[in-house]
Amino acid sequence: MRTVDLILQKKAGHKLSREEIEFLVAGTVNGSIPDYQISAFLMAVCFRGMDAEETVDLTRAMRDSGQIVRLEGIRGLKVDKHSTGGVGDKTTLVAGPLAAACGLKVAKMSGRGLGHTGGTLDKMESIPGVRVDLSQREFIDQVNNHGIAVIGQSGDLVPADKTLYAMRDATGTVDSIPLIAASIMSKKLAVLNDVLVLDVKFGKGAFMQTLDEGRQLARSMVEIGSGMGLRTAALLTDMDRPLGHAVGNAIEVREAIDCLRGKGPDDLEELALAICTEHLLMGGIAASREAARATLKEKLSSGAAYKKFVEFIAAQGGSEEALEQMPRAPHEEVFPCHASGFVTAIDCLAVGHAAMLLGAGRETKESTIDHSVGIFVDKRLGDAVAKGEPLVRLQYAVRARCDAAIRALESAFRVEPARRDPGPVVHEVLRP
Ligand code: URA
Repeated sequence: MRTVDLILQKKAGHKLSREEIEFLVAGTVNGSIPDYQISAFLMAVCFRGMDAEETVDLTRAMRDSGQIVRLEGIRGLKVDKHSTGGVGDKTTLVAGPLAAACGLKVAKMSGRGLGHTGGTLDKMESIPGVRVDLSQREFIDQVNNHGIAVIGQSGDLVPADKTLYAMRDATGTVDSIPLIAASIMSKKLAVLNDVLVLDVKFGKGAFMQTLDEGRQLARSMVEIGSGMGLRTAALLTDMDRPLGHAVGNAIEVREAIDCLRGKGPDDLEELALAICTEHLLMGGIAASREAARATLKEKLSSGAAYKKFVEFIAAQGGSEEALEQMPRAPHEEVFPCHASGFVTAIDCLAVGHAAMLLGAGRETKESTIDHSVGIFVDKRLGDAVAKGEPLVRLQYAVRARCDAAIRALESAFRVEPARRDPGPVVHEVLRP
């Protein structure tokens, strides 16, 4: 087989066989295919796409390039969730304990934040004492004993994705649905869970800008999961607004705790309920959507979900007292509204970027973050606002960083005389 022939084949829009895709992935990982040929192949996929069978073959070849985490020894139904990345997205910290409080097993490998999006591991590390570097043994034992554990992704998982993603980043080939779907699903399928719920975001703060693009990505990932034996569903959720009010690290954990106590923002609660409803339905634990929601709401209102969260945090080195000791930024600055009216649009990318400039996120993988700083969004889509009222409050440590964040927020909010309905946070649920 010659790589150039496969590039030509894809350039002409022809389908590649499973063996041909395996050859390309193997050559990417072992270094036998030079970067310029991999790049040309990626560009051909960007323009010509891949059909469902090719995308499954690519995902499988990528997954099999590294370690498979079997989660052997975990007793019970293992559920996972994945978000394609958003601003203020602390849903794992709510949905994880909520699912565990229902008796499901949550063995979650999470990521760190980069750019305008945050990461669950960073948020967890705002709690004094919490460790996310558990050994495999500790991870499995914790899930068996407490129902939930969250750690970083093992370094040996899907090496093909590390190479391909770096190449895509450098060659302008990130925004291809089969490449994104294979990248995400190869990592999800490398951990052998029973049920996966994908939260596919669309909007200004997301990879996919429109509902239609989000739907295509979601459909592709559900097909891949089902094609490879994983019960998979996808929610299409709005990222034209930050999720909840809080954007940062400790500030987001506090909001997640409020939600677990039944006092959280409605959009965050709705998303967590929607994710766990799919877990319960696909896991065969609930007979109907109504029954699932009733069970989940009871876990929130009774305090069972919050209790599970405290148990999970304590198992990873924190405690309920440590939740009180999470860092708080020393200063706060109000960003006021310059007109009266209704908030009709929020530039999520700008809000995420402003939080990063404050120090809550990473500009590059090597940047260090400040867990104490963040943004509290006072006025959300659809809210009425009077001139001079705070739109957001910036919680900061370094004045120059606050000034930079304020500049980033300058045109982030649109305020108009007439109210527009912000619509639901969960737009659709796609099932196999
Ligand atoms: N997240 C991933 O893991 N891969 C992509 O290609 C895009 C988002």
